[in-house]
Amino acid sequence: MTDKKFEYRSAAWFGKLDKDGFVHRSHMRNQGLPDHVFDGRPIIGICNTWSELTPCNAHLREIAERVKRGVWENGGFPVEFPVTSTGESNMRPTAMLFRNLVSMDVEESIRANPVDGVVLLCGCDKTTPALVMGAASCDVPALVVSGGPMLNGKYQGKDIGSGTDLWRFSEQLKIGAINQRAFMEVESCIARSAGHCMTMGTASTMASMVEALGLALPHNAAIPAVDSRRLVLAHTAGRRIVEMVREDLRISKILTRKAFENAIRVNGAVGGSTNAVIHLLAIAGRIGVKLVLDDWDRLGRNIPTLVDLMPSGRFLMEDFYYAGGLPAVIRSLAEQDLIHRDALTVNGKTIWENCQDSPNWDQEVIRPFQRPVVEHGGIAVLRGNLAPEGAVLKPSAASPHLLCHRGRAVVFENIEHYKERINDPALDVDESCILVLKNCGPKGYPGMAEVGNMGLPPKVLKRGVTDMVRISDARMSGTAFGTVVLHVCPEAAVGGSLALVRDGDLIELDVEKRLLHLEVSEEVLAHRRAEWRVPEAEMEGGYQQLYVQHVTQASVGADFDFLVGCRGHAVRRESH
Ligand code: FES
Repeated sequence: MTDKKFEYRSAAWFGKLDKDGFVHRSHMRNQGLPDHVFDGRPIIGICNTWSELTPCNAHLREIAERVKRGVWENGGFPVEFPVTSTGESNMRPTAMLFRNLVSMDVEESIRANPVDGVVLLCGCDKTTPALVMGAASCDVPALVVSGGPMLNGKYQGKDIGSGTDLWRFSEQLKIGAINQRAFMEVESCIARSAGHCMTMGTASTMASMVEALGLALPHNAAIPAVDSRRLVLAHTAGRRIVEMVREDLRISKILTRKAFENAIRVNGAVGGSTNAVIHLLAIAGRIGVKLVLDDWDRLGRNIPTLVDLMPSGRFLMEDFYYAGGLPAVIRSLAEQDLIHRDALTVNGKTIWENCQDSPNWDQEVIRPFQRPVVEHGGIAVLRGNLAPEGAVLKPSAASPHLLCHRGRAVVFENIEHYKERINDPALDVDESCILVLKNCGPKGYPGMAEVGNMGLPPKVLKRGVTDMVRISDARMSGTAFGTVVLHVCPEAAVGGSLALVRDGDLIELDVEKRLLHLEVSEEVLAHRRAEWRVPEAEMEGGYQQLYVQHVTQASVGADFDFLVGCRGHAVRRESH
């Protein structure tokens, strides 16, 4: 220990010989730490979303130990800390309600503590954007290590995928095509190992997004959670973050406009989740990159979906890794000049340097450009009088025959109303109708639940119909599929046009023209608008109240208005 002015932020805690330095060091020493860890070396925070209530992240403690090995090995001092963990499968009303809360937890944990750089351990859907948002607001060196996907599910000798096959089997159960026993059997076959959902759902999408953004090491997205190479990746990340601190490679140097453009195109090529739209807009907002909803359409419109994974295709993440993983996809896009090759990544190399020699071992799983799964993948951003501020649809998950459709609205005022009516044999509905669900946006159903892919009425399912046009201000699970218009903005709960739709109205959807039109005259709409009242909500204060008061619309990322922006300058100033 010396009294020189230390190079790193943590020196403001451990680099002083006064009373404060004594307090900071002496308490840390109760963990059995020797003198030399306070010699001015980089302090690396390992931000862990481990929780037994988040099964997708339940193995992250072992990952953290491997990161620590790498940090020690390279002369850093690792300190693991927990943040709130959000697990999709258990949290109510929806894990998305807590994404912004976790991001605050991350930001303030970094800000308040002697941390020079951070490794973000995440997996389940919201944990990835939440951790990146928090780190972006602090602008410290940051590297993401995902927990990795589960092994493929196996049922009766066939692969089954998280979420995607659950939707299929539950619809089959509903119409008696399978019995309860078979359904229960599937339950025990679908989650066979540690890791997150192994379809190209939101977790796999966000793991791909952080790799495409340059925030994670190559192959972060697809190495299965239980493959020993996941531990090697964690170890390597630990070594690398120490160098990133020494190089002052802060997250703002990685998260540039070019990085976001790369990620949007990669999302199209992997057939990624619509949730990525909201999360990337929110991350961009935190780092101060101007990204708008229409960028998703402009940049992603002609990107073919190359990766043949459920829910858009046939295979699963394990197959994707063995086929070559994300580097093979990025290379394929770059060879078509669809990637900014000079975008910097966390290993200090450009994205092109990382992927230029990446092989594609299986052209069924990662299709060549000339033989895509879907010619025009990406995310379609729809507009019209029903969504003046935009709505999204994932063409690769939709039924081609419904992409241009005009139908009669069957309206549900909220999710309870939907549950009451959908199984009613008297419900006046057929497959040409359009199901409309209101009040499930960020404020209406605080947290914006994944209910947009509402199940079809049994009377329609029984006729063998598997898809109908559905429209809502809700989100949809990344593992789901269907011709589903989501994130309608403004949402119904703030008086968006969606709130004015009534049973029997005609709606036109034309994805090619990017149109979502309610065929009701302006005069009638004005009349309905005058009659509209804010839906009553039971609000008992607490976090939920804060959420409703401050959450922004999905079209700008559903972040809290007071969290948008990077506070890195403040984080650095406060430490001195
Ligand atoms: Fe965690 Fe699907 S429930 S990723």
